[in-house]
Amino acid sequence: IKGDPASIVIFGGSGDLTLKKLIPSLFNLQKRNLLSENTYILGVGRTNLDSESYRELIKDALNKSNKEVNKLLEKIYYLNGDYTDKNLYQNLKIKMDELDEKHKTNYNRLFYFATPQIVYMDIIKKLGNNGMLKKTDTIFPKVIVEKPFGSDFNSSKRLDKELHNYLEEEQIFRIDHYLGKETVQNILMFRFANTIFEPIWNYKYIDHVQINVTEDLGIGSRAGYFENSGLLRDMFQNHMLQLLALVGMEPPAQLDAESVRDEKYKLLKSVRPLKVEDINKKIIKGQYIEGTINGEKVKAYRDEKNVDPNSQRETYVAAKMYIDNWRWSGVPFYLRSGKRLKLKNSQISIHFKEVPFSIFSKNKLKPHKNILTLNIQPNEGFSLNLQAKQPGSKLCLNDLNMDFRYSEFFDFDPPEAYERLFLDVILDDQTLFVRSDAMETSWEIIDEILQEWDNNPDILHFYKSGSWGPDISEGLFNEDNWVNPGE
Ligand code: BG6
Repeated sequence: IKGDPASIVIFGGSGDLTLKKLIPSLFNLQKRNLLSENTYILGVGRTNLDSESYRELIKDALNKSNKEVNKLLEKIYYLNGDYTDKNLYQNLKIKMDELDEKHKTNYNRLFYFATPQIVYMDIIKKLGNNGMLKKTDTIFPKVIVEKPFGSDFNSSKRLDKELHNYLEEEQIFRIDHYLGKETVQNILMFRFANTIFEPIWNYKYIDHVQINVTEDLGIGSRAGYFENSGLLRDMFQNHMLQLLALVGMEPPAQLDAESVRDEKYKLLKSVRPLKVEDINKKIIKGQYIEGTINGEKVKAYRDEKNVDPNSQRETYVAAKMYIDNWRWSGVPFYLRSGKRLKLKNSQISIHFKEVPFSIFSKNKLKPHKNILTLNIQPNEGFSLNLQAKQPGSKLCLNDLNMDFRYSEFFDFDPPEAYERLFLDVILDDQTLFVRSDAMETSWEIIDEILQEWDNNPDILHFYKSGSWGPDISEGLFNEDNWVNPGE
């Protein structure tokens, strides 16, 4: 569906996220003819630029020069100013009125917060006090808030309260880019558009579930952010818990924003609170030391530029969690994410129970558990591991993999997650955005762990870069192991 006309204002207009992800996504939407002609993009930022030099920056970021790029550049403008200065917002208002008129945007106004979190409050207050967030019969302002959405439960509540001082929930789009990934969206189709999986998608047939989001990169130039945040806030509070919710939730009444988000919220509410004494046994906190990745030597986290040499900050977390409801009673969910691991890979694997009785035991054969793997990236697709007879006169069982790759079936070039998400904001569809109640609940889950870590500074486990994390993480399992991609 093509987007409606829109005015897209990006705070943090010259920042990394904008140049690397947001503008390329808008460019792709335009290429795919999904961005209305009546749209403009106004970057706002502290970098001293004017619209002309901003367009040059964008051209460099897109690293292309052709008709399509020029078409996008015609829609691009820049406003320079300090986010704490109220003059910026007066100028913004004048500029937007002028551009809305010029581009005939229908006043479908989007304000994207792609700045450091510290200035969010200023931007909200000043936009709000300037009357720019008010919904009227003709203007529908929306804000898109990037993570981190607060740094704990209380700060996220404060931020939410400030947003709600000026906006209704239907105007707030809390972005989690994982939800825009094609294969993450497919989890709903996979589960609820096929009859064969749902009847066995529960504690009766599923032994455990693993959610693995591993990265080979380190923290790059983000030490400032990462030293404050750490992996639990960076990946678990949002992406990992959202994946958990999608895999575990009940079927929504309908495929609309409220029904889907009701079910995700319910699932998160059912995550079993961790007892203090359990936290060190069920949550492993790791940090990378030096090692080799793809044949290259890489530094330890503590040696990265701008990282405290005694930093206790985690770059890896593995957790064993339970969901206390009828469907999932007693089924462990293992979640693992980390930097500087062997490979970049995101996947969810569903491990089914063993056969209730093996007729092969006399032959000393033990059928393996069936595993269904949803590959989120790369090699988008899924595979089902089955047991089959190995051809030959001897009775031999063998693993057989039924593999499905999107790229082989569809002409599949996965769109940037932000493409889909931008389009949804333009079209007022909140299904793939995080609702206030789910955000709160996710922070409640994370806060418990953070508090316990604060009280126990010595529980950090080191792991070699290029490995699969601290060995102790295997101890979370009774008899299984982590599924390591490529092995
Ligand atoms: C971001 C995190 O939200 O997700 C990064 O802040 C992480 O630390 C990134 O690298 C991973 O996203 P993707 O899409 O590359 O898997």
